[in-house]
Amino acid sequence: MKRLYLCLVLLGGGGEIWANDSLEPLPRSIQYDREKAELGKRLFSDPNLSIDGTVACVNCHTPRNGADNRSYSIGIHGRKGHINSPTVFNSAFNFRLMWSGSAKNLRDQVRMPVHNPVEMAMDETRIDRYLTETPSYDKAFRRIYHRPANFKDMSDAIAEFEKALITPDSRFDHFLRGEIDLTPLEKRGYRLFKRLGCITCHNGINLGGNSFQKMGLINRYTWQADNPDRYSLTRNPSDKNVYRVPTLRNIVLTAPYFHDGSAPTLEVALKKMAYHNLGFDLAPEEIRALVAFLRTLTGKQPEILKENSP
Ligand code: HEC
Ligand code: HEC
Repeated sequence: MKRLYLCLVLLGGGGEIWANDSLEPLPRSIQYDREKAELGKRLFSDPNLSIDGTVACVNCHTPRNGADNRSYSIGIHGRKGHINSPTVFNSAFNFRLMWSGSAKNLRDQVRMPVHNPVEMAMDETRIDRYLTETPSYDKAFRRIYHRPANFKDMSDAIAEFEKALITPDSRFDHFLRGEIDLTPLEKRGYRLFKRLGCITCHNGINLGGNSFQKMGLINRYTWQADNPDRYSLTRNPSDKNVYRVPTLRNIVLTAPYFHDGSAPTLEVALKKMAYHNLGFDLAPEEIRALVAFLRTLTGKQPEILKENSP
């Protein structure tokens, strides 16, 4: 009874729980400019975009899962950050980017890691110089953008590449399209996902990525002054520990979890999620079913990352 009440509160009071079932399959393909994306792919793995020539975007956003499987990412001169790297896979479907939502879109986001003193620590002038002085880049930029290589067009090319990083055709997508059935355990997990209220925050195409929510909505979660939360942007005290909700797509591949990388396994993450954001403890059997459901969210590797992509 207590659980049902919480779900209803989260839904804004009353109503049929199942009516909020707004999960959508990932599209099988996405429109993007192939030439720009291929240039972006090269830039994404170029360590010369960092001040000491050691850190490329791909260091922290690997082809395996779009993230790096560390609690905190490691940047130039081996410096450790204090934030868990989210996956860049399917990020084109997120309404804002970064834990705080500070970036409006992929193009706007690129300057953040490039300028970040821990991550790549480069400025635009140096990048412009590197790109124009590297003949193969200069040629490619002139061909595609009809002007000398520059930071703005570089951001555009990288964003175009990231747009292509979608992972369609997970088992869950096939299920949503009515093409396959899930196992009884997976279906039980899916039902729990809806009934317990996970879906109130993790919904839409990415099962997340489309709203800001508090970590610790019901039971308080530790807050630290350097958290990458909404508060870091707005300085509004009610925004402490409020984050852009992460996607749950490919979630079994992206441990550890949370903005602080504090949950080493999915089981621990689910336990903490239920306790802090829904206000109760999950039974072991419920965790098993939810994990089985979350496993169905692993999609296919993005086409553009395949060895022989043209
Ligand atoms: C040293 C590790 C590191 C490097 C290098 C790095 N990133 Fe990130 N990336 C992160 C971390 C950590 C975050 C989360 C930061 C935050 O939210 O405050 C992030 C967030 C992102 C996001 C937001 C994803 C989302 O859904 O919110 C995108 C997109 C992204 N990075 C793209 C890039 C690109 C493009 C580059 C290269 C120009 C790059 N990253 C280089 C660690 C890194
Ligand atoms: C009130 C909104 C809300 C509800 C309800 C909720 N979540 Fe979350 N979820 C979030 C937020 C916000 C985060 C990011 C928290 C952080 O990083 O500190 C998150 C993070 C996660 C993560 C870790 C993702 C990652 O990449 O680090 C998982 C897994 C997860 N939630 C699953 C669930 C499940 C399963 C349920 C139901 C039992 C649930 N959530 C209920 C808002 C919610």
